[in-house]
Amino acid sequence: MQPAPAPAPDADTQRASARVQLPEVEVDLPVIVGTEDEHAVDISRFRDKTGYVTLDPGFGNTAACKSAITYIDGEQGILRYRGYPIEELAETSTFVEVALLLIFGELPTKERLERFRGMLTDEQLLHEGMRYHFEGFPSHGHPMAMLSAMINACGCYHPELLSSEMDDERLLRATATVMSKVCTIAAFSYKMTKGQRMEYPDPSLSYCRNFLHMMFSKPHRRYDPPLQVVRALTKFLILHADHEQNCSTSTVRMVGSSGANVFASVASGVCALWGPLHGGANMAVIEMLQEIQAGGDDPKTVVAKVKDKKFRLMGFGHRVYKNFDPRSKILEKTCTELFDVLGVSDPLLDTARELASIALTDDYFLERKLYPNVDFYSGIILRALGIPLNMFTVMFSIGRVPGWIAHWYELYGDPDRRICRPRQIYTGAGKREYVPMDARRC
Ligand code: SDX
Repeated sequence: MQPAPAPAPDADTQRASARVQLPEVEVDLPVIVGTEDEHAVDISRFRDKTGYVTLDPGFGNTAACKSAITYIDGEQGILRYRGYPIEELAETSTFVEVALLLIFGELPTKERLERFRGMLTDEQLLHEGMRYHFEGFPSHGHPMAMLSAMINACGCYHPELLSSEMDDERLLRATATVMSKVCTIAAFSYKMTKGQRMEYPDPSLSYCRNFLHMMFSKPHRRYDPPLQVVRALTKFLILHADHEQNCSTSTVRMVGSSGANVFASVASGVCALWGPLHGGANMAVIEMLQEIQAGGDDPKTVVAKVKDKKFRLMGFGHRVYKNFDPRSKILEKTCTELFDVLGVSDPLLDTARELASIALTDDYFLERKLYPNVDFYSGIILRALGIPLNMFTVMFSIGRVPGWIAHWYELYGDPDRRICRPRQIYTGAGKREYVPMDARRC
């Protein structure tokens, strides 16, 4: 089964045209209409026709591609993977099933799912040569640095997946390799920083249960969490699996557009996700809540400081969602369910809810359409699962791997694929003559 290719312009997607009037020229440009009636002006010939380029810092107004993978309606707070609402997938699906849906476009049959699970098991172990890389990292090394380095290093041990020739079978193998290896790498990184013996994967366990085993089992005591803990991790990973053209996924597409292999492309996504404005926000939210808990400012004072632009309310706001991020609603509910099962509580959840209730009734946030995003509650779940703070963005990465691979492959299969090479508006010095060293004056 071939993955669903990106939609090519056809009678259904290309309608009418937009007339653009510039000082020196008037031009008609094609209008592209997406499945959910999003409209775009196709400017792929704009410079040829007008001599102008367009400028859009942060790409807030620019569609980089057509994609059939994920749909977000930021105004309505809608998120669907291949047409399936995120609420249904989070409640009823497994992370491996969602990964196959994102990459291949359809929910897998039982047989296909079982075969893929077998491939995941085959790929769980790292080449023993990779263990020596871990021994070279300092124990205080950041797990995100280790993750990006080790994912790229996988390319040294899987030359058969470096080829730019990808077919269905090779993609399945590449997907299983990356999805399995990131779990083993993450767990080994954690054990290494704790000075503990690495726990090898157990082929008899499901994807999520196996990860928790590698993270928390010890030689004298096997970690066997209750089903609800496994379901909480499953939901966390499903909710992070894809989010259309976010910063890290756009990075993966940018790198993949040069023909770079799947390891290099996914490793670049890990690096982009690390930033505190993106995937690093889940750590920043907890640090912010801990600061409040530690007798710092109370939530009302925090909100006042945010409004004075002294800092940003981490876990709030989104480039696309101008309503609730549907993921944050599911994650908040998951916090409550998990705490009920574990018989625990976390004062940070109370503080988070108090912050949200203040912000969501304050005009500063309402005018700017700032609502809790995926990162606002996700860290509280990770704390309850025992995941250390410096691994929160690693967990986001594990969740996002299927989305990165799905977009990398969609780009690869796109008949209109071109290397990504944006233009710029130059604002530097005009032409100058070289000045010899002894003639230079500061
Ligand atoms: C993720 O793209 C994705 O899909 C990402 C993601 C995914 O799944 O891949 O959803 C995951 O990265 C979620 C976002 C996690 N980041 C944070 O929580 C960091 C805090 N949020 C912000 O820094 C910000 O909201 C961004 C980065 C998420 C979005 O920034 P934008 O779209 O560039 O918005 P902006 O900076 O232009 O802000 C617009 C206004 C400004 O005020 P004014 O200048 O108009 O007065 O809103 C304000 C900003 O100051 N603002 C905030 C704020 N976010 C925006 N004010 C206070 N707190 C905030 N968090």
